Amino acid sequence: METIALIIDNKKISCPPGTSILEAAQQNGIKIPTLCYHPDLKPFGACRLCLVEDENTGRLMASCVTPVAPNMSIRTDSPDIKRHRRNIVRLMMAEHPESCIVCNKGNRCQLRAIAAQLGIGETKLYSMPNYKPLEQANEFIVRDLSKCILCGKCIRADHELVVVGAIDYNHRGFISRPATVHEQPLEKSNCIFCGTCVSLCPTGALSPKTEYYVGTPERESRSVCGFCGVGCSVTMGV
Ligand code: FES
Repeated sequence: METIALIIDNKKISCPPGTSILEAAQQNGIKIPTLCYHPDLKPFGACRLCLVEDENTGRLMASCVTPVAPNMSIRTDSPDIKRHRRNIVRLMMAEHPESCIVCNKGNRCQLRAIAAQLGIGETKLYSMPNYKPLEQANEFIVRDLSKCILCGKCIRADHELVVVGAIDYNHRGFISRPATVHEQPLEKSNCIFCGTCVSLCPTGALSPKTEYYVGTPERESRSVCGFCGVGCSVTMGV
């Protein structure tokens, strides 16, 4: 079988053509942070967190949507890449409501976990939360799109896995959000409330109604909520 040879973080790797750099790294035990990638969904390249650099060309690229090529020499964790990743997460958090301490997602929030991994305590950017009304009139799902990071997992799950076409992106830029046709409530759309989108949402934008604010198992985690801007190491719900 034809394979492509490349180097990732000084490790010689070979994999079939068409494999993404992210998949090649994961298959060889090299971790690259992601937010919009999911193995069951088509890669989308939305969050740019999986940024890597080809040392041969100096090119930065999203590893989830870039296929491996012969003789690539990829760095996944250079100081430059980490700096870019931190800036990406800071921008996301600047747009995020500062409500981690009461968020149902708690320590399961992937944005918060990645911010903690990257050592981000406060964003140092002007905070511009994009507040949206809480949607919870239906029986099953609470949608708090103020916490949406536009990873597109819910939309791709809807289109690729469940195939009901209940939601898609609406608007562009800062005000863009997943929405139903004519922005109707979920219960008036094609949504079948299977919960797939909820299970894939990396933040507190989508929550099962039965779990909303009821608390979850606890574990130790450094807070990056930005309430006080310090990071207090409190024990919070997972
Ligand atoms: Fe690659 Fe989001 S994981 S761009």
